[in-house]
Amino acid sequence: MSDFIKHYSQYLTSNTLPIGNSLPIAKGEGIYFWDCDGKKYIDFSSQTLNLLLGQCHPAIVDAVVDQAKTLTFASSRFGTVQYFKTVEKIAEIAPSGLKRVNIKMCDGSDANETSVKIARKYTGKTGIISFHNAHTGQTTQTIQLRGYGRDPRTLAGNTEDVVFVHTPKYKVKGDYKDTLKEISRVIKHHGNIAAILVDPIMVNAGVLVTDETKSYLQALNSIANEYSVLFILDENQSFGWVPNLFAAKYFELSPDIITLGKGLSGGHPLAGVLVTEKLKDVLDYNEADFTNGGHALSCAAAYATLSILQSVDFHIEEK
Ligand SMILES: Cc1ncc(COP(=O)(O)O)c(C=O)c1O
Repeated sequence: MSDFIKHYSQYLTSNTLPIGNSLPIAKGEGIYFWDCDGKKYIDFSSQTLNLLLGQCHPAIVDAVVDQAKTLTFASSRFGTVQYFKTVEKIAEIAPSGLKRVNIKMCDGSDANETSVKIARKYTGKTGIISFHNAHTGQTTQTIQLRGYGRDPRTLAGNTEDVVFVHTPKYKVKGDYKDTLKEISRVIKHHGNIAAILVDPIMVNAGVLVTDETKSYLQALNSIANEYSVLFILDENQSFGWVPNLFAAKYFELSPDIITLGKGLSGGHPLAGVLVTEKLKDVLDYNEADFTNGGHALSCAAAYATLSILQSVDFHIEEK
């Protein structure tokens, strides 16, 4: 452990200690960052996919500074001008049919948890299908849905409504059909499934994308429709990193709910859900509109990020 971290570790809980011997990051620019000793790094992870446009993009910096000089905060009963503009911008780029926006959240976990609330309230059912090795979040509900790191002491409580299925191995052509069979079986036998929650690219399981992923996800979407189970696409990791911005568009899916966070605001705290018209009235006030959600500063960053994504053709290569 570096002397720097050793000093500060006396104030930190163990789970929040930085990894290994890393030094604090002091500065960033584009794809680079520098630690506090001045050592320069290329950021191959884009800080876990948050920095869609890199560190300190000038247009985002300007937008945040302007907003900070204009308005600091409005409570969740109000909307700010920047918030409304950002909601409209998100609706503009959203897949067709998913034009109802709730970005009154800060983290992907809140977004996933909101999607589960909507699914349960709308269907009157309680079961959620999740995937082994999926990362879904860290709130009480989303940690129950997470397909790894399952410490029984943290999970104590209501776990019986979460059913885990295996992700496709993609080792042999067509083996994704095993997952589909497993899901159909679970829905029929459980009898109380409200939704399937899936990360289309399964980042935590190692980025499971092959030339069969589209067929697999489309079949999953069809199964959900056939059994009147809501299809929730967790785009916390995929948004912005795939052609057409949304995996839903790229793989030609029609989910009932898309959850977003991370890259949405180019590295600032903002998250939310996009839902279809039929789901727009499901939640009431104080059920998913958090104090710092839809914050004007984050919305300014998101508006700038999305405007750039709309206007520049980044030409993501398909392999
Ligand atoms: C696919 C996926 N869903 C949800 C989350 C949770 O997001 P957050 O850490 O912002 O709560 C993550 C975080 O890495 C994620 O990768």
